[in-house]
Amino acid sequence: MFRNFSRSSVRVLIASNHGLFRHGLVSLFKKKLGLKVEIVGEVTSLEGVIEAIAKRPVDLVIVDYDDEQLNREDFIAHFVSGKGQTRLILVSLSNPESAMLYDRRELPLSQFEAWFEGWQASAEPRPASFGEAGFNHRIRSNRMKHFVVASILVIVLTVLLIFGAGQVRLLPVAASAQAQPIDQLFRLMFFAIAFLFSLIVVFMLYSIVVFRRKKEDESDARHIEGNTKLEVTWTTIPLVIVLGLSFLGARSLAEVERPDPKALEVDVIGLQWTWRFEYPRYGIVSNELVLPVNKQVILYLSSQDVIHSFWVPEFRVKQDLLPGGEEFVRTLRITPTQIGSYKVRCAELCGIRHAYMESPVIVVSQADFDVWVAQQTGESTDPVERGRKWSTQYGCLSCHSLDGSKLVGPTWLGLFGSEVKLTDGRIVIADEAYIIESIRNPGAAIVEGYPNIMPANVGQDLSDERIQDIIAFIKTLR
Ligand code: CUA
Repeated sequence: MFRNFSRSSVRVLIASNHGLFRHGLVSLFKKKLGLKVEIVGEVTSLEGVIEAIAKRPVDLVIVDYDDEQLNREDFIAHFVSGKGQTRLILVSLSNPESAMLYDRRELPLSQFEAWFEGWQASAEPRPASFGEAGFNHRIRSNRMKHFVVASILVIVLTVLLIFGAGQVRLLPVAASAQAQPIDQLFRLMFFAIAFLFSLIVVFMLYSIVVFRRKKEDESDARHIEGNTKLEVTWTTIPLVIVLGLSFLGARSLAEVERPDPKALEVDVIGLQWTWRFEYPRYGIVSNELVLPVNKQVILYLSSQDVIHSFWVPEFRVKQDLLPGGEEFVRTLRITPTQIGSYKVRCAELCGIRHAYMESPVIVVSQADFDVWVAQQTGESTDPVERGRKWSTQYGCLSCHSLDGSKLVGPTWLGLFGSEVKLTDGRIVIADEAYIIESIRNPGAAIVEGYPNIMPANVGQDLSDERIQDIIAFIKTLR
């Protein structure tokens, strides 16, 4: 366009049927704007313009915007598709105090005043170079302004949404180890959603308000078709985000399902419309789920009639209970981390009283859990008493005496904390670890003078808790 700025003036061709238009233009450019223009001709139609340009190069064609005899759309169509150096502007002098310029390719009429001021300013230090440079600079800075304002609004709305939602309690207290990765993922998703929501809504509302069609503006918007860069961008970015989220999702799932081989086992049976909890290790059947804190429980879920769903919101995880027997038993691992009372509710529509299918879930300390188990099974709450009972029930006392006499195995009297000489010559202290090993794996350390005959399966039938009871009992034998 105006690439050769060495020329001191701009060559202008005027298209108008009104004699006074030239006069008005000259006063506008020379007096108001202080620009040097050289009027190279005056024509009255588009054909005239084309002819004139063919004869002699022209920088700028100025069309009389108010001239009814000229078809503005024809001019615009010709110059938009044309690849020449000539630039077109439409000038309206209907109000001489505020002449309006109109460039279809670059600028909606509504923004023209701002452009005009900026153009005037940028034209001052270099009067001869009026046109492209200042023009595009102004448009670019205008676009930049809109972009910056909209971007700031996006950030503000995102922050408001995130902090606003922080005030509303979206999730109940996180009371299980499994809640951690789930909540982390939830938070990340929420941030992403808050940002995307803001991005879409702000740009939409900003466009509706700021770029609303002005009353006098009858023109069509610029026609835009296809933009490979943009399309590649808006395909690639969501693809990367979705792949990233699926990776994080898979990682969280693995973390949530990580098994603990020592997990407490509980059978959960759902039936219209109540819950039953069975503890096979203790032979307990209960209508409330009592769990020790910080210990993983594995629930074996099954239904006696229709599909139910086990859900304690504070634990986050959820699993269906299916009818159909063994084959359809589902599992769910939960590690409660907060002592407290919760509620399991059914999360699968299962009939008329579905909404009332709730049962207490109580998380207690290990000590309180032991007391509860003892109460349920009619056992003593004193570990020493229980230890004495297990020692008898599991047959320990048929080989180990309590009074110091030598039976098939070493006596328990004064055993705890004493030095024990083994057949391999080692001398060890009979502490908790030694006793646990001797029960779990009787062949590992044989006391000198005794045969290796203790049955290995004794330890397999004893739970950790019961072994602890037995140790508590042995400690009292002094
Ligand atoms: Cu069971 Cu809903």
